[in-house]
Amino acid sequence: ATAQLVVDPAFRVGTVDRRLGGSFVEHLGRCVYGGIWDPDDPAADSNGFRSDVLGLVREVQVPVVRYPGGNFVSGYRFEDGIGPPESRPSRPDLAWHSVEPNRFGTDEALGWCAAAGTEAMLAVNLGTRGAGAAADLVEYTNHPGGTYWSDRRAANGHPEPYGVKLWCLGNEMDGPWQIGHRPAADYARDALQAARAMRAIDGTIELVACGSSNSAMPSFPAWEATVLETCYDDVDYISLHSYYGRPSSRGELLAAALDMDRFIETVVATCDHVGARRRSTKRIGLSFDEWNVWHRDAEPDHEPWRQAPPMLENRYDHDDAVVVGTLVNSLIRHADRVKVACLAQLVNVIAPIVAEPGRPAWRQSIFWPYRELIRAARSDSLLVALTTPEHDVAGVGSVPVLDAAATVSEDGDELRLLIANRSPDHSVPTTLDLRAWPGYALVSHEQLADSTSRPAGAPGWPPPVAVPLPAERAGRVDVSIPRLSWNTLVARRS
Ligand code: AHR
Repeated sequence: ATAQLVVDPAFRVGTVDRRLGGSFVEHLGRCVYGGIWDPDDPAADSNGFRSDVLGLVREVQVPVVRYPGGNFVSGYRFEDGIGPPESRPSRPDLAWHSVEPNRFGTDEALGWCAAAGTEAMLAVNLGTRGAGAAADLVEYTNHPGGTYWSDRRAANGHPEPYGVKLWCLGNEMDGPWQIGHRPAADYARDALQAARAMRAIDGTIELVACGSSNSAMPSFPAWEATVLETCYDDVDYISLHSYYGRPSSRGELLAAALDMDRFIETVVATCDHVGARRRSTKRIGLSFDEWNVWHRDAEPDHEPWRQAPPMLENRYDHDDAVVVGTLVNSLIRHADRVKVACLAQLVNVIAPIVAEPGRPAWRQSIFWPYRELIRAARSDSLLVALTTPEHDVAGVGSVPVLDAAATVSEDGDELRLLIANRSPDHSVPTTLDLRAWPGYALVSHEQLADSTSRPAGAPGWPPPVAVPLPAERAGRVDVSIPRLSWNTLVARRS
């Protein structure tokens, strides 16, 4: 069976926001302690930041990092994490049953973001706290001075406000596991109060309301509708979270992007339905601020009440990279509405980067398709007309074998085609129809293919390899998309 892919520069979905390539750092396992911050490691800089991790984050230019949680934030007191480190309290972390030493807090996190050249996206605790503490934190980070919390910031060595723009109103409040979980209408009222108090301190901030923790939540999408009926005028985005992995079957996992597509489209429809009922011209953006492959069966039990125990340290293989590639495609395909997205998480915890004590940090397989998402920043997403064979997957149904997205650079000079093949058995001869791109030639084809893969957990995953280009590089171009592969093809205007 063969495939055909047609793209035309006239058919644009929307601009890919630079925030689509974001990531996430939570006080969980070894993400903060032993991940981005480890003063005892030989790679630590004078701030205790692991310089090798910083180097990788800077190299790919991660645009935004969500912090400090996740489930963790729903029991967090930001006051515990500011001021002289030696006088900060250790607290039980009720979400992950660990001990939180508070050696790393808001100032360290915002200092790390500056060092990494990334924007911070802060979450406030709407689990055990409310509007008052949320506004205090905005005052601490953003108010110029002359008030209690802004003066505390100055006294802690940061006279200039940080100017944090993007804020999450809690985390996964629809989930029964969440500290402070409550019905949608109650969360909506609390989120509205927090939003108004936070905006009273700084009217320039952007706010994300909690949507559903995944598309299978029984309250989805009624949760979104209820939250937006109350908060529509006071928030800018609604969040989506989704993880895919075992115990789902291999076929189901490789089909994960079908769920992501449907999830996004249902949230868009729900937002627009609420907007229409309100006769509003405002459009709510989507913040897919937790997404990844997460194999829950790969987690050993950890002893409770330890500091930074290894947790959720998934080792990714080639299949996982292909799946992440298809999720990247789904986000790019919906770039008109998904304006923020955070790969969860950044280091050690279900992460593209692994940092072990005393060893240089290394990249997992999923690092490479994630890098491609970051690269898509500010380009325009293009409609892709894809004719592809399909195969049947038990529990899913008929699944397209190929999955694709396309972008064109801001200056119009570069067309990038991102193509995954989900078949474990068959390569797919594919015609790229580039007849709408006169003057452009295919200049590179890079590939993560099964033949170049290694076992999960091998430290350091090699980047995609260059494969030979076809003789015909313009017009209708025939390429082969090998079984289980993730491909980037670039055409340039000459
Ligand atoms: O990323 C791990 C956890 O997954 C986060 O803390 C939570 O928000 C989600 O359920």
